[in-house]
Amino acid sequence: MAVSIKSEREIELMREAGRILAVTHEELEKAIKPGMSTWEIDRLGERIIRGYGCIPSFKNYNGYPASICVSVNDQVVHGIPSKNHIIKEGDIVSLDAGVIYKGYHSDAARTHGVGQISQEAKKLIEVTRQSFFEGIKFAKAGNHLNDISAAIQAYAEKFGYGVVRDLVGHGIGTNLHEDPEVPNFSQRRKGIRLQPGMTLAIEPMINAGRYDVAWLDDDWTVITEDGSLSAHYENTVLITDGEPEILTLLK
Ligand code: MF3
Ligand code: CO
Repeated sequence: MAVSIKSEREIELMREAGRILAVTHEELEKAIKPGMSTWEIDRLGERIIRGYGCIPSFKNYNGYPASICVSVNDQVVHGIPSKNHIIKEGDIVSLDAGVIYKGYHSDAARTHGVGQISQEAKKLIEVTRQSFFEGIKFAKAGNHLNDISAAIQAYAEKFGYGVVRDLVGHGIGTNLHEDPEVPNFSQRRKGIRLQPGMTLAIEPMINAGRYDVAWLDDDWTVITEDGSLSAHYENTVLITDGEPEILTLLK
């Protein structure tokens, strides 16, 4: 499938979808407390999203049963919220959410520490976030997709971390997942040439240990194979004539 180029009108709708998701993440960050269940985080997130008149993109997507993916510690992504999973001081919690506003999607993820967390966990969260910003230095018209992928990988691997291979970022628009795939590691080919009006969900998933992952029996939850911690950071990004515009961060 060809990579879609959004019109100015579509970009406006994606900006609004992104702004609402950015606010949702800020509200969730404030709400996270030890003793809360991952189910409560999902309930709150869905309430916020619907309060803005949006639809949670993930709910029932390929059968996913919740609105917010909540992935704790060695869970990489796609954790399923549960009343029995209580978060505690020292945990790291990745929250991934998507909203649909007037038919247009935004997608973003953050990893938060619960109360005091280890130095090791703090560093993993910060390097994962920074790897996204290293990647988008190359998110400019005329560059190629692989410039972004290679920059994310090079930065994360400097710290000895594992860059997850089995899951990738993606184009986004009227669908949650559109072409192209956006890997967080270098490919043999340059990939597509970036053009103004492309919208990409760039989402490094970084493990403190090896990059290998496995799936739990629920067929959703992705975990690190070696049991190491994992962090996730994602934004929906618009390619422009100049600097990329991050649609899911508040200015
Ligand atoms: N950010 C994730 C992705 O791009 C969220 C999808 S999870 C699902 O794949 F639950 F919606 F499937
Ligand atoms: Co995504």
